Amino acid sequence: MTDSTEQQREERNSNRSRTPHSAEFLSYISSGWANRPSVEISAWPVADFAQARRKSVHNAFPDRLIRIDAGETKTRSNDTEYRYRPHSAFSHLTGWGAQTVPGSVLLITPKGESVLFFRPTADRSSEEFFANSAIGEFWVGARPNLVAVSKSLALETRDLAELETWPGLDQALDLDDEKLAEFVSELRLIKDEFEIAEMRQAVDKSIIGFERVVSCLPTAVASKRGERVVETAFFSAAREFGHDLGYETIAAAGEHACILHWIINDGETKNDDLILVDAGVELESHYTADITRTLPISGTYSPIQRMIYEAVLEAADAAFAVVRPGIRFREVHAAAMKVIAAKTAEWGLLPVSAEESLKPEKQFHRRWMVHGTSHHLGMDVHDCAQARAEMYLDAELKPGMVFTIEPGLYFQPDDELVPAEFRGIGVRIEDDILVTETGAENLSAALPRAATDIENWMNSLLTK
Ligand code: GLY
Ligand code: MN
Ligand code: MN
Repeated sequence: MTDSTEQQREERNSNRSRTPHSAEFLSYISSGWANRPSVEISAWPVADFAQARRKSVHNAFPDRLIRIDAGETKTRSNDTEYRYRPHSAFSHLTGWGAQTVPGSVLLITPKGESVLFFRPTADRSSEEFFANSAIGEFWVGARPNLVAVSKSLALETRDLAELETWPGLDQALDLDDEKLAEFVSELRLIKDEFEIAEMRQAVDKSIIGFERVVSCLPTAVASKRGERVVETAFFSAAREFGHDLGYETIAAAGEHACILHWIINDGETKNDDLILVDAGVELESHYTADITRTLPISGTYSPIQRMIYEAVLEAADAAFAVVRPGIRFREVHAAAMKVIAAKTAEWGLLPVSAEESLKPEKQFHRRWMVHGTSHHLGMDVHDCAQARAEMYLDAELKPGMVFTIEPGLYFQPDDELVPAEFRGIGVRIEDDILVTETGAENLSAALPRAATDIENWMNSLLTK
């Protein structure tokens, strides 16, 4: 490429405006600003917990330099980006959530000391603060400074520019290392006191989202895209009371409920149908809820909808009833499946008895529930995904674990093996469960679950 075409390309990239950069202008724009008041900063409550987590990582990989990258922003298109979200392991080990500066890096040294590197606010004497749309404070707001972040997180902080010269950096273990990725994932299997409090908050904020969902139903029914009305009602709560959604909301009315990850959400919401809403608010700390309710759009379940709903509820309750320290994670699923097999047998849907169907080589009842019953939940909706099977599916439950219980039944609209009145009905009930010292707590129990409770709750919101 010739110099002149390169110059033309650069000019095209700044088509919208050109920032003046004469020395006279720089001197002018750099002066005349009031001093910022200094604010007292004390360490955030998460700081001690994050320190203990870093210590565990150091103890597991003694004498190694460990590097945990927050990650860069992702381009949506051209020069626009998705809302930034750091890697969960980075947030877990630093305590820095939604405020994280993109590109930050945590080092844990071979001696077990921690240093957090990030790019601090550009000084007002540089052009960056007004001319750099990616990091300048005129464009994206002031970045936190090194001292403030150090105090908030109780961590040593340094300018990112110093990272590359850190001794031994090229030998550092990072998240591309399978063992490290596995370890930091397994470290989140048991939530500490701070995390459990955050999970409770995430659930509480999500319940507000579900209340907004119910309140918007008359507007949704009047719209050609009622599912989008529902989706955005929940999103409004996620942004107002949390940081974001923990995952894309599933707002699946009528037969869309039979599509497990229906997130297109462009369908109608008809009065006689159910709507399956699977949604969770993610907080600034990045902890998220993951809750599903299947609601009658009219406010009242039809007899067949109620019958299927109550079968799924029975499966959920059976799964919850077995949760206590010492049982295996997979037993939760087994308890739910026993009910799903019994119900589908009772309705005459299975070619064999429920008992026969439950045999590993048969599993006919799974035609109507192909997904698992539970997954760990925390900073990621499917938390601890890099954990080994012996630490997850085959592991014994321990106090502090948080996971979902989410059985369902989905009768596809073209399923010839079920009676016509079943077709197009999909039901899932999903709650967030904490394992306690003696049993379990349903963190999302404050959101009505039983059919009549749901009807009463909807009625009270719709007549407000
Ligand atoms: N919302 C995804 C899930 O329930 O796993
Ligand atoms: Mn889930
Ligand atoms: Mn879900």
